[in-house]
Amino acid sequence: MAPTSPTKVIYDTDPGVDDAMALYFALAHPAIEVVGITTTFGNVTVEQATTNALYLTALAGREIPVTMGVATPWHKAPEKPPAHIHGADGLGNLGARRKFGNLADPRASAQFIVDMARAHPGEITLVAVGPLGNLSLALMIEPQLPTLLREVIVMGGTVSEPGNVSPVAEANIWNDPHAADRVFTAGWKLTMVGLDVTHRVVVLLSLFKRVADKHRHPATDTLHRAVEFYAKFYSGLYQHIADTPGCYAHDLLAFIYLVDPGLFEIDTKVVRVATDGLAQGQTIMNQRDFIDYPHTGWGKDKPRTQVCMQVDATACVQLFEDTMMADWLPA
Ligand code: BDR
Ligand code: CA
Repeated sequence: MAPTSPTKVIYDTDPGVDDAMALYFALAHPAIEVVGITTTFGNVTVEQATTNALYLTALAGREIPVTMGVATPWHKAPEKPPAHIHGADGLGNLGARRKFGNLADPRASAQFIVDMARAHPGEITLVAVGPLGNLSLALMIEPQLPTLLREVIVMGGTVSEPGNVSPVAEANIWNDPHAADRVFTAGWKLTMVGLDVTHRVVVLLSLFKRVADKHRHPATDTLHRAVEFYAKFYSGLYQHIADTPGCYAHDLLAFIYLVDPGLFEIDTKVVRVATDGLAQGQTIMNQRDFIDYPHTGWGKDKPRTQVCMQVDATACVQLFEDTMMADWLPA
């Protein structure tokens, strides 16, 4: 069988420790070609997110365009970045960094997404693992974006699993619920990889050590150090992680879905986002779509989202380890 060419991906991200692990998985996996990285506020400010994206790509010896995106949510007041989870620098407080000369592409992230989608119609998959302001803005610049992109995969939201920033809300959606609702109703091929599955997959710190020991490379050393910090946050919250240190693989699972969707069970339903009040940031899935609800927000015209509800956790972790252990870094 002729080898298929890798999927072109724009990675919309707020690095972020799990964002970094997802990026390195994407760079390591032969079925993925990262053609651009667009940054957003979230785990850190958008300036720090951009610095981190440039740093992580340079460390891994890759030249990939990085653009800076939105700095604040659409409507709600910005929150302080969660330094206790990802570190004040977003990468577990690395301290002194190596010096590289790579600079950001001057375009805004939303414009970059539009330019790339127009240049490669139907070819680009957008993997978004932060608040969704860049995608929302790109939709305003180019209303045809849903037909120009191949598909959109979002790490965010939750249906049955409790939230991580409120009893019902996941952080990426909570950070910009108005942008998220726009994304969930835009009409593209959309997959939601939320806490229903990411809270089922723990990647152990010992795996990152094995990867670092194998490669002895600044990129995997940096990732291992960042995850050490991140794992401490989860150890403080959950006994099973305190017993065997590790972390949830949130953003990573968006890429695992891309390369092996068969590892997930999907429910395809309308999803809307609560934008205000106590439920702000909640992703609500219409589970009874045979009912004609009088509320206009749930009409039959609303586009559906593929929602990941179950996952084969063991297979995901194995895929991650196999991919990271392969030779993907320059000497
Ligand atoms: C999501 O929030 C961020 O902290 C992580 O990077 C991930 O994208 C998990 O809720
Ligand atoms: Ca993220």
